[in-house]
Amino acid sequence: MKGVILAGGLATRLRPLTLVTNKHLLPIYNKPMIYYSLEAMVKSGIKEVLITSSPEAVGQFAGLLKGGEDFGLTLYYAIQKNPKGGIADAISLARDFANNEKILVLLGDNIFSYDLRPSVDRFESREEGAVIFGVHKDTESRQYGVIEIDESGKVISIEEKPEYPKSDIAQTGIYMYDHHVFAYIQQLTPSQRGELEVTDLNNIYKNKGNLYCEIIDWWVDAGTSYDELLRANNEVAQMVKEGKL
Ligand code: DAU
Repeated sequence: MKGVILAGGLATRLRPLTLVTNKHLLPIYNKPMIYYSLEAMVKSGIKEVLITSSPEAVGQFAGLLKGGEDFGLTLYYAIQKNPKGGIADAISLARDFANNEKILVLLGDNIFSYDLRPSVDRFESREEGAVIFGVHKDTESRQYGVIEIDESGKVISIEEKPEYPKSDIAQTGIYMYDHHVFAYIQQLTPSQRGELEVTDLNNIYKNKGNLYCEIIDWWVDAGTSYDELLRANNEVAQMVKEGKL
């Protein structure tokens, strides 16, 4: 299985911090934000990772991370021309890199401690489908996709930032897809905010009865607001000191 880390977007919610600095290069305690996704990839057992970002920032990632030697990874880079093309648009850049293998996709602004290795191992041995990861959270703030599941973890519904959330399960930025993902992305059309939405992509799997959700524990979307960025810094600092991260 191969890994894809998304590190594009405009990060307007964190301006002026992100006016000349890519969000994923901002510090979270003692490391740049993107390190946490790379370390999650290492922990998952994945060896080859593609980083997608804007034409302006991609060189900065290459300068910082080079070939991935310091992480024991082989890194590749792809340019997303339209920074607001959407998450599914960024994933589509991984088609040749994936070369028909399954992929683990991480949004580069998500920080979590969950060990993905057992999930990756299980998914690798599965035939087809997709797995998304959710977290119990106050979804009233309308910052997240909201997932409804049955007792087996099968997804019943998934809505992007709904006005009336059907559950308290927020969709995190952790996704695993089979090789059909690139054909499904080609079926998508831009949403009202002009993006190819990951939730629309996941709904294609859901409609085929092939989308499952696993629940994780501690998670922060550091790109949501200054307060969440600060929370990520404080909680990571605490966890590092306690040896939990
Ligand atoms: O973090 C979880 C949430 O991420 C989910 O609950 C939502 O369902 C999902 O749509 C997404 O929502 P956001 O509105 O928070 O996504 P955002 O625009 O902040 O982008 C998330 C990451 O993806 C961020 O690291 C930047 C990257 N990205 C985003 C876009 C739109 C790209 O690389 N390219 C893009 O075109």
